[in-house]
Amino acid sequence: TLAVAIVTAAGAGTRLGADIAKALLPIGGRTLVEWALYGLAQSGCVSRVCVTAPNEALEQFSEVLEKSKVFAGEVIVVPGGVTRQQSVYAGLTALKESGIVLVHDAARPFASPGLIRRVAQAVNDECPAVVPGLPVSDTIKEIGDGSPAPVLNTLPRARLRAVQTPQGFLGSVLMEAHERFIDEAADDASAATDDAVLVEWMGLPTFVCEGDPSAFKITTADDVQRAESFLSSSTA
Ligand code: CTP
Ligand code: MG
Repeated sequence: TLAVAIVTAAGAGTRLGADIAKALLPIGGRTLVEWALYGLAQSGCVSRVCVTAPNEALEQFSEVLEKSKVFAGEVIVVPGGVTRQQSVYAGLTALKESGIVLVHDAARPFASPGLIRRVAQAVNDECPAVVPGLPVSDTIKEIGDGSPAPVLNTLPRARLRAVQTPQGFLGSVLMEAHERFIDEAADDASAATDDAVLVEWMGLPTFVCEGDPSAFKITTADDVQRAESFLSSSTA
């Protein structure tokens, strides 16, 4: 299975609070965006990558990725948008791919090659959208307004999955979904919170495959600690 990938790396990393773009944070000798490309390279199923970078750091990203030898295929860098959804759209537009497209967060730099292959292999005409998911350990309640907030519903935990990236799509389907719902993505609060939900909104089937704890997300300083211990235990 050959796929192309969009690596979203245009976020500011506000919650991390570092003085550089989150995807340029070095951990264990590589920046997060390089680790993300490394995993895609190791999967053996990704031929081209488009990285979405913050507009003000385009040159810095290009420089880092040119020097880096982690991904042998074609790598292009494009400016991302205000929302993650807009960044993904910028990547889709640049790649012009109707076959399999993986959308992967640089903020999940250690997604295993096996997970990446599993997602790519699950995408086909019957499964145009596939996302990896892990069982949740918390009970999840839907709430209304107020404090304390009234509980509207308690979702059956056994049927819930916390979804990760990479998420895999037929490129033509994801592009159509983006064009249909682009107006809804004006700000971060109204934008879709993952890629697959756009395909759900189109009324097309989307699927969950088995996720992998390696694809944990780096959001806060605590997650950087987790990343460092993940790396030292995986190289030990
Ligand atoms: N992202 C992007 N374009 C945006 C916003 C986010 O490409 N306009 C990317 C981020 O770089 C990250 C991924 O989407 O790899 C997930 O976003 P998140 O973890 O929220 O990262 P940031 O937006 O950078 O962090 P924060 O929300 O704390 O500012
Ligand atoms: Mg964000």
